[in-house]
Amino acid sequence: MKVLGIESTAHTLGIGIVDEEEIHANVKSMFEPEEGGIHPRKASEHHYQHALEKINEAEAKTDFQLEDLDAIAFSQGPGIPQCLDVGAVLARTLSKKYEIPLIGVNHCLAHISIGIRTTEAENPTTLYISGGNSQILDLRSGRYRVVGETLDIALGNALDKLARKLGYPHPGGPEIERLAEETDEIIEMSYPIKGMDFSFSGLTTEAERKIDQVDDEVLTNSFQEHAYSAAVEALERAMAQEESTEALLTGGVAMNSRLREMVELMCEQRDAEAYFPPHEFCMDNGAMIAHQGLIELKAGRQTSIENSSKKPNWRPDQVEVEWGI
Ligand code: ATP
Ligand code: FE2
Repeated sequence: MKVLGIESTAHTLGIGIVDEEEIHANVKSMFEPEEGGIHPRKASEHHYQHALEKINEAEAKTDFQLEDLDAIAFSQGPGIPQCLDVGAVLARTLSKKYEIPLIGVNHCLAHISIGIRTTEAENPTTLYISGGNSQILDLRSGRYRVVGETLDIALGNALDKLARKLGYPHPGGPEIERLAEETDEIIEMSYPIKGMDFSFSGLTTEAERKIDQVDDEVLTNSFQEHAYSAAVEALERAMAQEESTEALLTGGVAMNSRLREMVELMCEQRDAEAYFPPHEFCMDNGAMIAHQGLIELKAGRQTSIENSSKKPNWRPDQVEVEWGI
């Protein structure tokens, strides 16, 4: 079955086309703010402007036509309301035009499912860290339980904020990674963990206050070491509690090599396996939405037009998982 997926929850407009055997297309266009963070209206305008071009580009990567699709999937939430509208409108239009089912999927679950598809993971405990979300999830009795999460801002958002204060453009994560690699020195900062939850807001303020007192390299290295250690320690506790032998890292921050190294080391010490999807499937992308649509379609799920409104605060633990992973 062939499914086209539309991702538009935040800065990325992504179009993916997949079937059971192959990821045929995964194209994207990213909104890059001239200054500051993501402006909802400007991001949604970007998505509308690039929609047609990206759909055509995705179709051109396949050896079939859009008429041959079996369903259209879209990110129904969580995300920025104005951006979610773009995906929902596009998906309804395509579904009507080709008279094929519409499937609204949960963006967080799509991050996990594409991680499972593109690695050898089977039933992992997932550390999902991006600009808008930071959670530890585990599938138990038909639902992904959020066993740990940030008590305030997401880790990617914290990296973006610190980078902006240091004078770097959005997204800040890669720049912080590059600066941090320049040194081995770290200074002591607060260690933001509470059981299996973590928090990054206080650590970010603390780092911002030290900008004029500490070299950028040392500051970013210290921030990474403290924030990533807290996230990995929480993941380890969750794995111990769930008796899990597999860890999956996903979301935009999962592209960070120091974070990957820490997860790898922790898993090695517990005799567990660590799984990291290829970079293009860690960050927001259309293929993950198409794949989530595919597995839900195969389990008999569809979304009616009446139920296709955006869900900006849709949590992954609100979804009953009726499909095989
Ligand atoms: P979500 O809707 O799932 O919250 P998102 O909108 O944040 O996703 P993603 O593409 O999943 O989008 O993640 C983007 C985040 O990833 C940004 O905060 C960015 O700074 C961060 N990031 C990207 N590359 C790296 C890196 N190498 N190291 C650390 N963080 C990174
Ligand atoms: Fe995402």
